Amino acid sequence: MVAEMPVAGRGDAVEGAGPNPAATTAATEAPPRTIRRMVRPDQICVLTFDRPGSAANIFDLATLRELGEELEFVAGSPQLKGLILTSAKRSIFIAGADLEMISGAASVEQGRALIEAGQAVMNRLAALPLPTVAAIHGAAVGGGYEICLACDYRIASNDRATKIGLPETQIGLLPAWGGSTRLPRLIGLPKALDIILAGKTLAAKPALKCGLVDELAPAEYLLDVAVRMIRRGKARRPSRWLINNRLVAAVLAARLRSQLLKKTHGNYPAVLEALAVVTKSVSSSVSDSMVLERDGILELMRTDVCRNLIRVFFLQERAKKRSVPGAAPGVEPKPIKRTAVIGGGVMGAGIAQWLSARQLPVILRDINAEQVAKGMAAIAKVYQEGAKRHLFTAREARDGLDRVSPAPTEVPLRQVDLVIEAAVENFELKKKIFQRLDELAGDETLLATNTSALPISDLAARTRRPERVLGLHFFNPVHRMQLVEVIAARQTSPEVLQRALRFVQQLGKLPVIVKDSPGFLVNRILMPYLVEAGNLFQAGARVTALDEAMLDFGMPMGPMRLLDEVGVDVAFHVAQTLAATFRDRMVVPSALSRMVQAGQLGRKSGAGFYLHAKGKAPRLNPRVADYQSPAAAQPSPTTLWERMVLLMVNEAARCLEEGIVTDPADIDFAMIMGTGFAPFRGGPLRYADALGADEAVGAMEHLVDSGAAHFAPCALLRTMATTGKKFYPSK
Ligand code: NAI
Repeated sequence: MVAEMPVAGRGDAVEGAGPNPAATTAATEAPPRTIRRMVRPDQICVLTFDRPGSAANIFDLATLRELGEELEFVAGSPQLKGLILTSAKRSIFIAGADLEMISGAASVEQGRALIEAGQAVMNRLAALPLPTVAAIHGAAVGGGYEICLACDYRIASNDRATKIGLPETQIGLLPAWGGSTRLPRLIGLPKALDIILAGKTLAAKPALKCGLVDELAPAEYLLDVAVRMIRRGKARRPSRWLINNRLVAAVLAARLRSQLLKKTHGNYPAVLEALAVVTKSVSSSVSDSMVLERDGILELMRTDVCRNLIRVFFLQERAKKRSVPGAAPGVEPKPIKRTAVIGGGVMGAGIAQWLSARQLPVILRDINAEQVAKGMAAIAKVYQEGAKRHLFTAREARDGLDRVSPAPTEVPLRQVDLVIEAAVENFELKKKIFQRLDELAGDETLLATNTSALPISDLAARTRRPERVLGLHFFNPVHRMQLVEVIAARQTSPEVLQRALRFVQQLGKLPVIVKDSPGFLVNRILMPYLVEAGNLFQAGARVTALDEAMLDFGMPMGPMRLLDEVGVDVAFHVAQTLAATFRDRMVVPSALSRMVQAGQLGRKSGAGFYLHAKGKAPRLNPRVADYQSPAAAQPSPTTLWERMVLLMVNEAARCLEEGIVTDPADIDFAMIMGTGFAPFRGGPLRYADALGADEAVGAMEHLVDSGAAHFAPCALLRTMATTGKKFYPSK
């Protein structure tokens, strides 16, 4: 670890020499500083970032100022031979600019001041006459990598914690502390565009290959290698005029612009702005390029897209730390150490793999040896693919698989802390399973179900421990989807909920707490959308028109493709469960059941709305016409997406109305994380606010008048339309 680097312990180094107040902090009670300075006997200065009371280093205004002071000291110390920047944190070099600071910039002037302050410090570092090295261990992203770019050399630890890159475009911004200027000069325009436009962060090895860093070393030798690099003197980089010129830039700009427009449907302005800035940058002077960066980011900071994307980031951070409302602060629940999963199908195997990869022993129970073997094979496959992608070493993958104990027959569950049931979605079967689990498990064992839509309170009532029963609804595929709905049955105790919540957080997943009700939160809001898509399809709308309309709206995948991926049978089953409760507003199209009967189940059967051949892009299934009425005219894309989206908005508002969750942000967060709901729109309720409740209600009432009674707006939306209230206070 960086904190234990040998060089830090060398007794004869001078800490806090010169004007650095760090050494005198205690005496003068100055605010604790983030940067520790040490001048080594060989006159190499080491600045160590170590933000007090935090696991992460970030750039806020105070840290920028401190760095400015340190650089002033270095510039005014002609005896110094070199400068090394490093971090004392376990897994973070510098995690970038403080997003609170960026999103809190109240005016363009404040925004400009922030950007210019950062640029000034990076430029000052780049202009130092002595050799400079960034010794990176952990995440060096955004501003945290831009500081590295301002150094002569970059060396990184070959540790899993090391991640390097410029993810700004992912939150609707562009690198504007010199990143858009210096990266193309370092690695060439095409590679720099690849990183910046995709907002990529790379692990140590690919970062080295791509040229983001010059060398890798074990964390404990980082400083020694950095010192060696300093002895090489100032870096001389080859000129990249062959690829960094006006002509190449113009060709790339034109080609990538049309690709990006196609990919983003014009919904993400940051990538286009970044493309323009970076391609212009290579034929500009560094100082002109900095102006381009600054002006570009100031435009972006003003957009709702950027605000919404940063908000998603904050909601993710919030989910990592949240507690059940009313939970005693500071009292941590007993950790869950032993687990069992019932059902080794798609979800059971996925959950068991994830638990075992988090060091937890798991019993995997299915009805017979064949089913268990299938589950084990599915787990092994996720591990193998993870190993191929360097997420696990071969050893870790083997150990992970070893932590799963296959159980083709009943086994004692007395010692297990948590059982997650993921057997087939059949209520009678699940009731029986819960009754039996109650007998097999220890008194303290928590019993959870991964059901998609069945009533958990009724399952709890089948046991003698209803307060220890809850829902843990993972999403498919488990190893990719971060969201988990933690569902409180009527009887679930707050302590059990808190324990389950912490468990989900420890798994590295993002929880949302939801009340037990049909479809919980995500499926309840998603299903009206999919059912409407099915009904529009049945009435004759083209499959591709439905998908394209929603891609234009900003969904990652159209509804018909999604039905194929989920499985037409699975979607039909969940829709029917919900329709049984919400009869007035949900009529499941018969086309879906006819497709299920014909075995057109989507990807798993090779054909659904599309044909899915291995290794080929899906193509329209010509047989879909059999399930449609001939349409006189095709509805416009706007009509299509308006209908599908308004139903989601209405259902989302109903969930709030009924107290399924109490915070609108939970709904938006869950829909973005669980379904990919257009993140740049900030979720269905944020979208409703942007549209205005009166507009939304007006559009719904218009549809009701045209005969579509299921669009009747809920009471909450109607009230909001008359009072002008919004789901979120406006900023
Ligand atoms: P699946 O059909 O792939 O697997 C179900 C497994 O349960 C099979 O291996 C089956 O042999 C086993 N099983 C049946 N009876 C059993 C019993 N008495 N004891 C132990 N195992 C038994 O189903 P899938 O898709 O994994 O779904 C499982 C649960 O997760 C369902 O409740 C489903 O609604 C829910 N779910 C499914 C999602 C999906 O996308 N597939 C997403 C989220 C939740």
